[in-house]
Amino acid sequence: MTVLGTPLTRDAVRMLLLGSGELGKEVAIEAQRLGVEVVAVDRYAHAPAHQVAHRSYVIDMRDPQAVRDVITREQPDFVVPEIEAIATETLMEIENEGLSEVIPTARGAFLTMNREGIRRLAAEELRLPTSRYAFAGSLEELKEAASVTGFPCVVKPVMSSSGKGQSVSTNEAELASAWREAQKKGRVAVERVIVESFIEFQYEITLLTVRASGPGGTIETHFCEPIGHRQERGDYVESWQPQPMSEKALYRAREMAEKITTALGGRGIFGCEFFVNDDQVWFSEVSPRPHDTGLVTLATQYQSEFELHVRAILGLPVSTAMLHPGASAVIYGQRDAAGVRYGALDAALRVPGTKLRLFGKPEAFMRRRMGVALAMAGDIDTARRRAQECAAQVAVLAPRDPS
Ligand SMILES: Nc1ncnc2c1ncn2[C@@H]1O[C@H](COP(=O)(O)OP(=O)(O)OP(=O)(O)O)[C@@H](O)[C@H]1O
Ligand SMILES: [Mg+2]
Repeated sequence: MTVLGTPLTRDAVRMLLLGSGELGKEVAIEAQRLGVEVVAVDRYAHAPAHQVAHRSYVIDMRDPQAVRDVITREQPDFVVPEIEAIATETLMEIENEGLSEVIPTARGAFLTMNREGIRRLAAEELRLPTSRYAFAGSLEELKEAASVTGFPCVVKPVMSSSGKGQSVSTNEAELASAWREAQKKGRVAVERVIVESFIEFQYEITLLTVRASGPGGTIETHFCEPIGHRQERGDYVESWQPQPMSEKALYRAREMAEKITTALGGRGIFGCEFFVNDDQVWFSEVSPRPHDTGLVTLATQYQSEFELHVRAILGLPVSTAMLHPGASAVIYGQRDAAGVRYGALDAALRVPGTKLRLFGKPEAFMRRRMGVALAMAGDIDTARRRAQECAAQVAVLAPRDPS
C-alpha cells in the first residue's frame, strides 16, 4: 500500500532525479502534484527540472563519488535516472546497500547506458529480431564489423544518445570518417562503436510500456498507443500518436516490449523503439524512462508518460488510455545565445488545439531543443500540421539590449 507524506517534513516521500532536462521537468511537476519532495540534479545550473524542484544540485553525474555524496545527503526513497551518462556502478551499490530504490533497477540503468549491453540482451539472450550488428574498438575492427553487417551500415558510439556521433556509411572508404565522427562525439576517451545494418523501414515507433503495481503485489505491463516519429540526424523532430499499424505488427512489437522490459525489471515507464515494414518488426533500443517522442502524450493521453512514470514509481495504478490523436513538433534554439526570449506566441497558440512547452533552458544553441508544440485533432494528419504550424510560428529572439 502506498502512503505519501508532506513535502519538507520528516515523512516526505523523496524523489531524486539524475538528469533535469525537459523530460525530468515534467516528471518533477507530476511528482509535486502528489506532494512528493523533489530533488533535481544536473551538470549545469538552472536546468529545466531545477526550476521546479524543492532542491537542486549541480554535479558531474558520471563521477561515482559525486553521485554517492548527493544520494547519501538527500536519502531519497527513489533515485530516478533521466539520462544515460550516469555512474551506474554507484547505483548498483546504492541499491545493494538498500539506501534508495533505483528506477527501474540499477541493472536496468546499467544495461541501457551502453548499446552493447542492451543489444546483447535483446538479440542474444531474448532472441528479438534486430538489425545485423557487430562491435568495434578500432578502425581495423570497424572494417571487419562492416563485413558482418554489409553496406549501408549505421555506425554509433556505444555510449551516446540523440544521434550524437552517429553516421551512415555506404562503402568501406567512408568508414574512416564514420570512425572519426564517433570518436569526436562519444562520451569516453576511446569510443567503442556498434555497427548495424541499415534497415529500410516504412516507419518507426516508440512503444511506451509501463510496468506498474497490480493487485496483491504483482507487476502488470501496460502499453500506450504506438507513437510514430520522424528523426533528422538521429534526433527527433516530430511525433504523433497513434501510429497506424497492422494488427500483427502491433502484436509483435508488444510481445517484444514485454520481453525486454520484463528482463530489465522494476517499475516505471520504458520507451521501446522499433522499426516496422508491413508485418515485420525489428527491435532497435529501449530506455527505462520517459521518451522524448512521448512528449506528445501531454496532448493525447489521460495520463501523460510523465504521470504514468510517477504513478508507477510510487506503486499507484495507471491507465494508458488515449483521449484523442495528437502530435508534437520540436522548437529549436535557432541561434547561439544565453537568455533568449520567445516571440509570436499569440500567433502560435492561435493554431487550433495547440499547447506549448518552453523548457526554460538558460542557453540556446542552433539545434538545441528549447521547447515543443503539442496539438490535438480528430486525426493525426491534422494534428501533425497543427503542431508544425504552431512550432514554426514561435520566434526565438535575442536577449533584450541592456540599455
Ligand atoms: N540500423 C538502422 N537502420 C535504419 N535507421 C536507423 C538504424 N539505427 C538508427 N537509425 C535511425 O537513427 C535514429 C536514432 O538511432 P538510435 O535510436 O539508435 O540513436 P539514439 O542516439 O539512441 O537516439 P535517441 O537517444 O534520440 O533515441 C533512429 O530512430 C532511426 O531513425
Ligand atoms: Mg533512439
